[in-house]
Amino acid sequence: MVSIHLYTRAALVSAFALVPALPIMAETEPETTDPIVINGGEIELPTAVPAPAHLDGVFDQIYSGWLFRDSETQAMQLDDFENPGMIFVDQGIDDWNAVEGEAGKSCASCHEEIESMKGVRAVMPKVNGNGELWSLEDYINDCRTNRMQAEALDWDGDRMKNLTAAISVQSRGMPMNVAIDGSAKPFWEKGKEMYYTRYGQLELACANCHEDHYGDWIRADHLSQGMTNGFPVYRLKQAALVSQHNRFRGCIRDTRAETFPMGSDEFRALELYVASRGNGLPVEGVSVRH
Ligand code: HEC
Ligand code: HEC
Repeated sequence: MVSIHLYTRAALVSAFALVPALPIMAETEPETTDPIVINGGEIELPTAVPAPAHLDGVFDQIYSGWLFRDSETQAMQLDDFENPGMIFVDQGIDDWNAVEGEAGKSCASCHEEIESMKGVRAVMPKVNGNGELWSLEDYINDCRTNRMQAEALDWDGDRMKNLTAAISVQSRGMPMNVAIDGSAKPFWEKGKEMYYTRYGQLELACANCHEDHYGDWIRADHLSQGMTNGFPVYRLKQAALVSQHNRFRGCIRDTRAETFPMGSDEFRALELYVASRGNGLPVEGVSVRH
């Protein structure tokens, strides 16, 4: 499929002057699309599925970021005992059961077992009862502040990431299925616009890398389609869980641009749009990336 449109070609040619390593190639399909087989076959996650309808003419197939990682990194996700992110899932479950705040409650006091969160991650972010787009982090902090009378957790703090990891794992294998119509539509449109906006001195949009060049090498990195179904991810480079907004911030910084704050409305909208590009891919969190 030819996906370098005329308007991006000009931008890329000028970008090449600044990023010599960004190859003059279109996207490259992965060599294999083997499923991620976890715990000796207990769980099997497809790594390639047909693209959602709204990406007609852009992608035929959408791919897990796992396919673009080296075999050592891939292997860590094949066994929950080898997956360094699973320690944080356990810590998140401990937190789930811990009483905190003036109301004397834990998450479990109301939601019971964390398994009750099955399905939640697959539809996040979503519009709440007041017409605002909320990420999983917002729902967690709403329960903490309004229902537990406890303090809000830091968007990118360890406790928040542990909880989002523990909640995400409950949906592992379920296809991402964020709503993009109805009340979600304006947020989705805003996120889409951001995705195609060129940022920074390098004048690169998310799409220039993750749509036009996935499968290619940029510097020492193998570009994926930039999907979010594996989040929060355990990043070897940071030896920590990384939230979606933190990843967005890093990618925007790489274009030498000012970025939006984590937990900003801009990043919520971008989160929705990026999630919708992955509709159909299974929730993978906690995935391992380098
Ligand atoms: C006092 C009871 C109570 C406590 C304590 C509580 N919650 Fe909730 N939570 C609710 C209610 C009620 C809802 C709204 C349910 C609905 O609208 O379907 C909710 C919604 C949520 C949602 C959104 C689910 C969805 O499908 O939209 C998440 C995620 C969540 N809670 C996580 C947590 C976490 C994590 C904790 C602990 C930090 C917690 N909750 C503590 C009562 C509670
Ligand atoms: C200069 C190229 C470039 C641009 C522009 C860029 N990224 Fe990335 N992005 C990367 C690289 C390199 C990685 C790490 C390798 C990979 O997973 O693709 C990455 C990783 C990601 C990942 C993690 C994927 C996974 O499976 O773990 C997400 C999500 C992502 N980017 C989203 C975005 C968004 C949203 C934008 C626009 C705000 C953006 N990126 C802009 C280069 C870029």
